[in-house]
Amino acid sequence: MCGIVGYNGNEKAVDILLDGLSRLEYRGYDSAGIAIEKNKKIEVIKAKGKLLNLKDKLNKKNLDGTCGIGHTRWATHGEPNEINAHPHVSNDGTVTLVHNGIIENYQELIQKLEKHNYVFYSQTDTEVLANLIDYYYKKYKMGPIDAINRTMVRIRGSYAIAVMFKDYQDEIWVARKDSPMIIGKDKNGTYLASDVPAILKYTKNVYYIDNLECACLKKDDVTFYDLNGDKIEKELNEIKWDVSSAEKEGYEHFMIKEINEQPDVIKKTINSLIFDNKIKLENANLNEEDLKSFDNLYIVACGSAYHVGICAQYIFEDLARIPTRVEIASEFRYRKPILNKNTLVIIISQSGETADSLAALREAKNKGVKTLAIVNVVGSSIAREADYVLYTLAGPEIAVATTKAFSTQLIAIYVLATELAKINKKINNEYYNELINEIKNIPEKIQIILNTLTEKIQKFSSKFSNIHDAFYIGRGLDYAISLEGSLKLKEISYIHSEAYASGELKHGTISLIEDNTLVIGIATQEEIYEKTISNLVEVKSRGAYVIVITTEDKDVSKVANDTIIIPKTNKYFSPSLSVIPLQLIGYYITVSKGLDVDKPRNLAKSVTVE
Ligand code: G6P
Repeated sequence: MCGIVGYNGNEKAVDILLDGLSRLEYRGYDSAGIAIEKNKKIEVIKAKGKLLNLKDKLNKKNLDGTCGIGHTRWATHGEPNEINAHPHVSNDGTVTLVHNGIIENYQELIQKLEKHNYVFYSQTDTEVLANLIDYYYKKYKMGPIDAINRTMVRIRGSYAIAVMFKDYQDEIWVARKDSPMIIGKDKNGTYLASDVPAILKYTKNVYYIDNLECACLKKDDVTFYDLNGDKIEKELNEIKWDVSSAEKEGYEHFMIKEINEQPDVIKKTINSLIFDNKIKLENANLNEEDLKSFDNLYIVACGSAYHVGICAQYIFEDLARIPTRVEIASEFRYRKPILNKNTLVIIISQSGETADSLAALREAKNKGVKTLAIVNVVGSSIAREADYVLYTLAGPEIAVATTKAFSTQLIAIYVLATELAKINKKINNEYYNELINEIKNIPEKIQIILNTLTEKIQKFSSKFSNIHDAFYIGRGLDYAISLEGSLKLKEISYIHSEAYASGELKHGTISLIEDNTLVIGIATQEEIYEKTISNLVEVKSRGAYVIVITTEDKDVSKVANDTIIIPKTNKYFSPSLSVIPLQLIGYYITVSKGLDVDKPRNLAKSVTVE
């Protein structure tokens, strides 16, 4: 969490830093700050709260420096106030830095530095970094690389840091371990950021800096160093994302823009995996031989990506008949999972940087097990460390609540499951072709849902803006997608909501149903349709207000207060269609409550701490 940016070039840095921070606010938004070189001094300006407060402060200043760093914070150590906001400065102002990550041994380091008369003004773990770099800088007098490298050896935890030295005001120094950072370059200067959207407007040419490397950004060049201080060569990579994909383009919020982008990005993802009606996974480095060797799958992910995993579990087992287990990454890493040489561990992640998912990937690799990453951000840590990578082509996703990345992850799962089913001879050619055709129809069906249901959902959502609880129920894949629907509502509207397998309601939850409790039932699965409907009748007769999401061939008028009809598709692919109204419900209820949809309180899009 937290976002960092930096710019060193010919333009006014403050504008580029603020623009970059505004695109990183999804990573944290409880305070922000920048440091800019000015008349041989480094000026630091910070403000509590959203970026707007910092902008107000900066309006009153005349900062025309062309080299600077910035930060938007998601508090871990120390309350969100101006003192704890970044940048942090060493005792005599020699070192100024911004940091994303957590320094685990900061207490011990504070004690060490206090013995050398350093004093600390904040409650953060970051301030220690500024002073530790300062300490080594002055002790060994061997310049920035030496001071940063000695600091990296001494600290434990995760970090992406951007550092300015009073004595080197035309340079920005950066280093990282386990927290994301990219470095960009164009004719106007050099850039750094936690994520691509922050600099996409300026350059598409980026370097990826690896763990325990550091780099020096000058106006016209970037030099990389390893932990020994030796120079290393890096390739410049081109980002394929459109600049417009990181802009709102007339939509009120990124979330609704991203919901509407789904047909298009799903089509792109399908076109990268299916050629001439055949699935080709060579881009992911996966050949038939590899796929045949796996006799069990372990899916590990967090948040919505975990919900994709739950859908995947149903699909892999039913369609491809491969034993599959899905687990939350933060649980997986501290358990002792039983993996064998024929296990494939699949990590699903939009950002490719989620700390727990990354740790789970490493845990699997340490055990000698093969790993496949389903990732959206090219060049992210998870993508770089996995044995095989299947990229989703959702483009930059800015709203904290995921929509389009989720939908493209589902596509990756359908394709993989279909291919595994074919290779393992669980389906014949005819069914294989049918599945492929139906995958290709998904974008059009989503478009139909968006065209026909958006207005209806917008209208009826306002009547739920004052509710306190909601329940999402379904069976099988309908249950899996209920989990995502419930998360979409609660994370942005702050309405308490829960998802239940319908059959489980009678074991406790049904006692919570009273007059007008909102229950959203999803009933798309033919084989268990009637059972789900019976469960909905049970809640209705206890006073629930029931919304049913079902297909056009079903009549649910007797049980539903409101009905949402979606097109029919193959049973395995129904999550892709039923999730769309669920996203719209979450979005429009939140809008009707007047809340900040794209930046819900306490959340960050990319969770790079445990
Ligand atoms: C955060 C985001 C979620 C996301 C989860 C996992 O909680 O708000 O939308 O599903 O992290 O992130 P990842 O980048 O690994 O998919």
